[in-house]
Amino acid sequence: MASPKIFITRPIPDSVLVQIQDECDVDMWHTSAILPPIAEKIPPLDGLMTYGHEPVTAEMFDTSPNLKVVSVVGVGYDHVDEDAARERGIALGHTPGVLSDTTADMTWALLLASARNVVPAHNHVQVEKQWHYYDPNILWGYDVHHSTIGIVGMGRIGYAVAKRALAFDMKVLYYKRNRRHDWEEELGIEYTELDHLLNVSDFVTLHVPLTDETTRMIGKAEFDLMKSTAILINIARGPVVDHDALYNALKDGQIAGAALDVTEPEPINTDHPLLDLDNLIIAPHLGSATIQTRMKMATMAMENLFAGLKGERLPYGVVQPPE
Ligand code: DGY
Repeated sequence: MASPKIFITRPIPDSVLVQIQDECDVDMWHTSAILPPIAEKIPPLDGLMTYGHEPVTAEMFDTSPNLKVVSVVGVGYDHVDEDAARERGIALGHTPGVLSDTTADMTWALLLASARNVVPAHNHVQVEKQWHYYDPNILWGYDVHHSTIGIVGMGRIGYAVAKRALAFDMKVLYYKRNRRHDWEEELGIEYTELDHLLNVSDFVTLHVPLTDETTRMIGKAEFDLMKSTAILINIARGPVVDHDALYNALKDGQIAGAALDVTEPEPINTDHPLLDLDNLIIAPHLGSATIQTRMKMATMAMENLFAGLKGERLPYGVVQPPE
């Protein structure tokens, strides 16, 4: 029997790749350059592994009648047309849970770096070579400990961010469509409406999935509510924040700073005005980027892929194969 044909949109670790190659005929986009449209790679595939966020659409599915499974290396699958997959009996898997702590760590890296001017300090010393004497009056930041953090989106990652906040003696507020009374009790965190959260938080961190409801959830009206000393961290998806409104809020000092791990578009255009602001840090979508976590994600995605190819239940499934 011919091996199933698989396309992998970006390089995965060799130790996982060889296991897939043992069972499948693999085409993997192997350079760091921009991918060709995935559509060109689809027919006549049996399986697709997406490592990145290029759209996977109904039209692509229609050109690939053999496609049995889309395996996303990542927890977010907003780039895949889930309804179209369901309608066509194509299984869809992702890698939840395994990256929550790692993404929470990155949230804190961005939060602390923004609050304590780590990037401007690095630039001052190593890039601009300006450290000539001890100057007690430069690069003052904001206290993180005993401040208030507002967590928007209290899923697995929000929960992990909240746990870390408690070690900083912070007051933890959160907003989520469905309240988590169990976590309120366990962690001593407080549910609040979004407007109030924005109004009183010193740090606002975003962890919502991208949906119609969360697209541009943070725009001018929301920045109007925030403190002039507040710092916004977006590690969710770029379109959750209106970038024009963010630019104005940062430029006009309406908020003190921001850190983005995600942008719109991605990568952000090199001439985007946000890149000229010195109260903004941008990382190139590194939330889950540690050696340990990326290995685990690739392994989980492989398990989903193999199950989907055999028509079996995906261990980490969003859409299961038809019965
Ligand atoms: C995720 O897991 O959703 C990350 O954003 C990487 O895709």
